[in-house]
Amino acid sequence: MFDPKTHCVVVVGAQWGDEGKGKLVDVLAEQADIVVRYQGGANAGHTVVIGDSQFVLHQIPSGILHSRCICMVGNGVVLDPETFFTELDALAARDVATAGRLFVSERAHLVMPYHKLLDVASEKSQQLGTTGRGIGPTYEDKYGRRGIRVGDLRHLETARAQLTERVARANRLLGLMGVAERASLPQHIDLIERLAPRVLPLTCDTGLLVYRSLKEGRRVLLEGAQGALLDVDHGTYPFVTSSNTTAGGAAVGAGIGPTAVDGVLGVVKAYTTRVGNGPLPTEAEPVAAEELRRLGDEFGATTGRPRRCGWFDATVVRFSVRVNGLTGLAVTKLDVLDSFAEIPVGTAYVLDGDACGEMPADVRALERVKPRFEILPGWRRPTSGARRLADLPAEARAYVDRLQDLAGAPIRYVSVGSRRDQIIQV
Ligand code: IMP
Repeated sequence: MFDPKTHCVVVVGAQWGDEGKGKLVDVLAEQADIVVRYQGGANAGHTVVIGDSQFVLHQIPSGILHSRCICMVGNGVVLDPETFFTELDALAARDVATAGRLFVSERAHLVMPYHKLLDVASEKSQQLGTTGRGIGPTYEDKYGRRGIRVGDLRHLETARAQLTERVARANRLLGLMGVAERASLPQHIDLIERLAPRVLPLTCDTGLLVYRSLKEGRRVLLEGAQGALLDVDHGTYPFVTSSNTTAGGAAVGAGIGPTAVDGVLGVVKAYTTRVGNGPLPTEAEPVAAEELRRLGDEFGATTGRPRRCGWFDATVVRFSVRVNGLTGLAVTKLDVLDSFAEIPVGTAYVLDGDACGEMPADVRALERVKPRFEILPGWRRPTSGARRLADLPAEARAYVDRLQDLAGAPIRYVSVGSRRDQIIQV
């Protein structure tokens, strides 16, 4: 993706999240100087394998595993202190040095334990299937202008007073929601007092750093979390997350202007998955869904929930190409389809008897659509050893070509396994 004219690249999920962005970020980080996470929080998860051990990064960009890469948690992220500590400790335990390579925006908002209590409590009535990580309530506080930001930790006395008021407010809300549990003020005060000395040395104006780095000709990767169909504006509302996951959110959440972005890579699975509630038009029949889940190991990295599985949905990806301005696509997990004799691909929808080529904004309409499927022949041979398009069986090549035609954006990468080297650059 990077070339002499392309210095700033956004990587976004183009379906419902879990498309394998982490792997693409990992591959692209090799060429990048800086990786910036721009939205979401500890609801995302990227499983990382170092030697024999495996751990999950929820907030720190996986670019941290490339020793020359600088990583930033941007202003658009909501930072969960406990998860942040766990990740820092896990990296230190594996001798991954982060000193001088990890920065946190002073403008990022903090996820507090009371946000998690409110998230879990509102799930009881809303039933969105959230990750329970306090993401929605933290963004609510941000937009309600009562959030606590990382930079506020510089003034602990004021932050303590803010917390006293916020915890009391959260407890009033919990009472109104009919929940018995209450947030503990001493626990919150203790948390920020432990957080301040660890996070403040990493805290700065990350947007300014990115801006200056771009001026100096460095390469910057802006890493999105979740996927376009979980975007609070463009997703299957209300079954969405609470941030702008799409590329427009990248500039805002990284603290740079939109004209700085040179390219947008959309990551799509060769099929479709979704975790949490809400419509999934191309959801497979139970037997095929189970097979996809087993072969693709489709269980959430954050919550361990089984993912719902279905076939590639071209209406979703076309929509994603449009709302993200995708300049390229990366198709992941092609190898998961290796054993299928036939592979359905959703080409369009039928809504109340009429053809419908675009995503309806209304979730009730999306629940009613019937996908139109085209059945493509499977290849029934392993693809995990392919390193060039020419190495793929003819049917797999035809499958990839068809996805590209239907999506309307060029495929730049095809991933055929979880290892770093299992990727085809087109
Ligand atoms: P929240 O982001 O925890 O508020 O959850 C809102 C919706 O987004 C739920 O359907 C979650 O399952 C979904 N979601 C949040 N983060 C991810 C992710 O990283 N991958 C896939 N789905 C996610």
